[in-house]
Amino acid sequence: MKTRNILKFVTFVSIFSGCVPVSRESFDDELSEPVEEIIYYATLAGSSHNTQPWFVEIVNDSLLYLKADFSKKLQVVDPDARELFISLGAFIENFVFAAECFGYKADIQITAKHKNDTNVAAIYLSKAQRSNYDLDQIKNRRTLRTPFHNTAISKEHLNNLTHNNSEIVYFPSYSEEGKYIASQTLSAYICQVKDDQAKQELANWIRFSNSDVEKHRDGLTTSEMGITGFGGFFVRNFYKPEDSMKDSFINTGIDKTKEQTENCGGWILIVQNEENPENWINTGRLYQQLNLTSRDLMIGFHPMNQMIEEENFEKEVNERLSLPGVIQFVARIGYVENYPPANSVRRPCNKIIKYTEKNVK
Ligand SMILES: Cc1cc2nc3c(=O)[nH]c(=O)nc-3n(C[C@H](O)[C@H](O)[C@H](O)COP(=O)(O)O)c2cc1C
Repeated sequence: MKTRNILKFVTFVSIFSGCVPVSRESFDDELSEPVEEIIYYATLAGSSHNTQPWFVEIVNDSLLYLKADFSKKLQVVDPDARELFISLGAFIENFVFAAECFGYKADIQITAKHKNDTNVAAIYLSKAQRSNYDLDQIKNRRTLRTPFHNTAISKEHLNNLTHNNSEIVYFPSYSEEGKYIASQTLSAYICQVKDDQAKQELANWIRFSNSDVEKHRDGLTTSEMGITGFGGFFVRNFYKPEDSMKDSFINTGIDKTKEQTENCGGWILIVQNEENPENWINTGRLYQQLNLTSRDLMIGFHPMNQMIEEENFEKEVNERLSLPGVIQFVARIGYVENYPPANSVRRPCNKIIKYTEKNVK
């Protein structure tokens, strides 16, 4: 008992002094109902800049409404809310898997028709047999920003990832298309980091200090961005989010992005035949499935959407690749030997769950 208290004290002092980053494990939120646990697992989905643009309204045990939180929309890089709806799709995918584990079937009815619809989906829950889906897959899924091996993904693994879904396209990094995507991603990234508005928007979601992480529990932290060791300690303690707009930080980011685009086994693109919330949500569900499966195969997964976030690039890339639909999502993938634990933080469930008045908790 004494040793545990000492350990707790040491952890507290280390976090307090910025020696170690605040991680997901640093938070211990109480969840009282199975539905809250299901929602917790759903929130472990990825979202652009880790904005977590969701609310859940619980009407009763068998009806919930998923809502979009437009205050979290990235106005500059995501003016049409495509990435916001993709993030909500990823949330839904996690929700369905988690519900099955807790002995529920979740029927999803998408209600969003327009890009500014707050009401995203009605979720109907009914009792069902518990599945033996491993919830750790949801817990361990993460975005990985380290360099990957350049070896192409094997046919077998590609089948495990994509299930031959025609909305998912893969190009190995050695292919002409793969090289083209790598160069366009880097060029679009450079364009973006030189744009004052995009820079400011990113700075608004950067959480360098441990106190900022604890306060917001969203956005991009040092450990998520891969700023580790002494560099991480320094940035956590002495950098402000605005420092991410300085040339030195930007140039390091460009070097890192170049390294990332040059070190991967290939690129995954998700395409849809039409731009609308339902298709974006479907894209988000596919992205989440891919990322959930990739870890078991020791395949790193890194969304890199810059070339479709930048208008000039998006049009040209779609024309040049001429795929069976419009590109909605881009990710770099590749084999890795090291898959560190998931480290992005999440807001507490009580901040996103609302009980309807009749059913106040
Ligand atoms: C629609 C969407 C777009 C994203 N775009 C990028 C991107 O361009 N670059 C990047 O490094 N990460 C990107 N991400 C990954 C998020 O930053 C990441 O999901 C979030 O920070 C939470 O981290 P996690 O995935 O490890 O849980 C994207 C995620 C989503 C859902």
